[in-house]
Formats: sequence, structure tokens, C-alpha cells
Amino acid sequence: MTAEKMIIEIKDWIREAADFIQTSLTTDFAVSQKSGRTDLVTSIDEETQTLLIKKIKEHYPADKILAEEKGYSTIDSLAGRVWIIDPIDGTMNFVMEQENFCIMIAVFEDGIGKLGFIYDVMKDELCWGGKGIGVFLGEQRLIQPKNLGLSAGLLGMNAYMFGEDIHCARKIGHASMGVRVSGCAGIEMIAMLKGNHIGYVSNLSPWDYAAGIVLLEEFHFSYSTIEGKALSFSGREYFLAATPEAYSEIKTNFLDK
Ligand code: IPD
Ligand code: CA
Ligand code: CA
Repeated sequence: MTAEKMIIEIKDWIREAADFIQTSLTTDFAVSQKSGRTDLVTSIDEETQTLLIKKIKEHYPADKILAEEKGYSTIDSLAGRVWIIDPIDGTMNFVMEQENFCIMIAVFEDGIGKLGFIYDVMKDELCWGGKGIGVFLGEQRLIQPKNLGLSAGLLGMNAYMFGEDIHCARKIGHASMGVRVSGCAGIEMIAMLKGNHIGYVSNLSPWDYAAGIVLLEEFHFSYSTIEGKALSFSGREYFLAATPEAYSEIKTNFLDK
């Protein structure tokens, strides 16, 4: 099986999932709380995940799947081929704004990121690519962003971390050109890949960062837990990604002190 074939299939599945989500937006879908009032899941999150998992199981029955909803949220190891899915990233935006949410799919092989897809559904913007393939926005190949320092660019941030000043988030934010908060990890990843933001500081689960890090790696961004460790692909972790220059400044000037 070639990467080309898989890329065509995944793009088709994302298109189908996005059509389903857009149609569902006009219906009276169910919204429920997970851990609390501000942690929501909808029937559309679950049904979109079911749609994508059905496709993977039909085409690649031997593969493993790690996904946010309904019994797929843990995995024994990253051995073999693993699909990592966030059916709707930015569910709060989906419910409250009906925009600014993404579908995200990543393919890993023995722990190595091979393909990543982030689709901003309402903007109709697909950022995709993979190891040795490059990074594309739709049909257009993106150019690797400049290696700007912290003071030269906008920094995406998790609102809670900035508000509560977790891991020096406020000082880091103030040292940048400005803080931006989208409420959607996928949108933050796309902003870095386009060269619009120099970095992203957040608190993420594997399906929030998997597709993004495949693409960031292709553009030689630096990323890790905020403590500088390798991401574990298990549970939530404080997450830092940035241009190599901004990453090193954030670590040296604010986190390793
Ligand atoms: C969330 C969003 C948000 C980030 C949270 C994620 P979800 O994903 O990406 O921006 O701050 O940590 O959980 O739950 O809407 O898929
Ligand atoms: Ca998410
Ligand atoms: Ca989600």
C-alpha cells in the first residue's frame, strides 16, 4: 500500500465526515457534559468518530486506533500502525460558535508520525502532509516558516494556562508579540504551519497533538511536554511547540530557571 493511496482515502473520509458535521449543525443534536460544565461532547462528535473508525476498519482491519470518544481513548503501545483521531477538535466552539473546529487524523507507524491531516471544517481549509512528503494547504505546498524568536511572533495559548499563569504562561505570553486563544488545538497547529504564530502553549491529549506534530516535525519545529520530555501519547500533558528559536528562548528564559 502506498502513501498516495492512503492520502486519497483519508481526504475522502474527511470530506464525508465534514459533510455529515455540516448537515448535523442544522439539527437538534444532543450535547452532554463530560468532566464538567465546560467540558462538552455532542452526539455529532461520537457519530463522526464512528464514521471515521468504520472507514479505517473496512480498509485497514489490522490497524490500531486511538480516538477521543467512546472506548478508544487508550492504547497499549504505539507498536505497528496506529490511527489517532479527534473527530471534532474544538467542541466548545462547535456548540457555541458553529465554527472554529477541526477534524484531525494522524497515522503513526511504530511511534513515528507518517501522515497528518487537520481540516478546519467551516473555513474549508485542509492542512495535511507527512514525513518526507511536505506540508500542504489544500493543493498548495506550504513553505517552511522562518525561525523567528519569541518577541517576533504571535503565540497561541490555552486560556486557562494564561489566566492562571501556569508554567509562567503570562510572562511567556508578554514576551511574545501577542497572545492568541482560539479554543481549538488544530487551528493553533495550522497557524504555526502557515507561519502566522511562532508557537503554542497548551494542555493536550494525544488526539489534540498527533496530526499537528507530524506536520510540525516536517517543518523542523521543536515540540515536547512543557518540561522538555517526549510526549507520552497517554493522558493530558502540558504541551509546548514553537520555532526552534522561540522554543529555546521559552525554555531557557522562563521554564528551566
Ligand atoms: C480541546 C481543544 C482546546 C484545548 C483543549 C482540547 P476538544 O479539544 O483543542 O483548544 O485547549 O485542551 O481538549 O475537547 O474540543 O476536542
Ligand atoms: Ca481536541
Ligand atoms: Ca474532540
